[in-house]
Amino acid sequence: MDTLAIYPGSFDPVTCGHMDLVHRAARIFPHLVVAVAVNVRKHPMFTPEERVDMLREALKSVPQVEVDSFSGLLVDYARQRKANVVVRGLRALSDFENEFQMAHMNRRLAPKLETFFMMTGQEHFYVSSQTVKEVAHFDGDISGLVPEIVLQRMRVKNGKSIT
Ligand code: PNS
Repeated sequence: MDTLAIYPGSFDPVTCGHMDLVHRAARIFPHLVVAVAVNVRKHPMFTPEERVDMLREALKSVPQVEVDSFSGLLVDYARQRKANVVVRGLRALSDFENEFQMAHMNRRLAPKLETFFMMTGQEHFYVSSQTVKEVAHFDGDISGLVPEIVLQRMRVKNGKSIT
């Protein structure tokens, strides 16, 4: 059976930690769908369309990676796409509890869907969409923490010109 893997997330916005994980997962899975979850948080910085757009731009050189979005339950989207694996990244112990709950809930809802955890690269374990947004909001330097396209879009969102 062909393996179709989904890497779901909010990606508000995609960080270099996510990118590292996508590149490593793409070496394992022949077809990887990076799926932006719609309606997960009430006040996202970027719309789902903007998040998809930035991911597509950042990942355009990786042929077996597709970028899509979904709303509702991840297990329903996985069923619809005929996916058999969900990929998630683990940064630190603090991620574990939530990921553990999610993986078990998803397994209860869809027993054949396997969750595959990958450790975030050591250069990125402290990087999150949340911290990156906060640093950018107060004019801190986030270059090297997010793809170039995100850097540009965040400058625009934060009312700075692109230089
Ligand atoms: O990047 P995030 O915010 O950690 O991603 C979390 C995400 C989007 C993967 C998770 O919230 C999710 O799968 N949402 C879809 C709704 C769903 O299926 N919830 C049940 C999981 S217990």
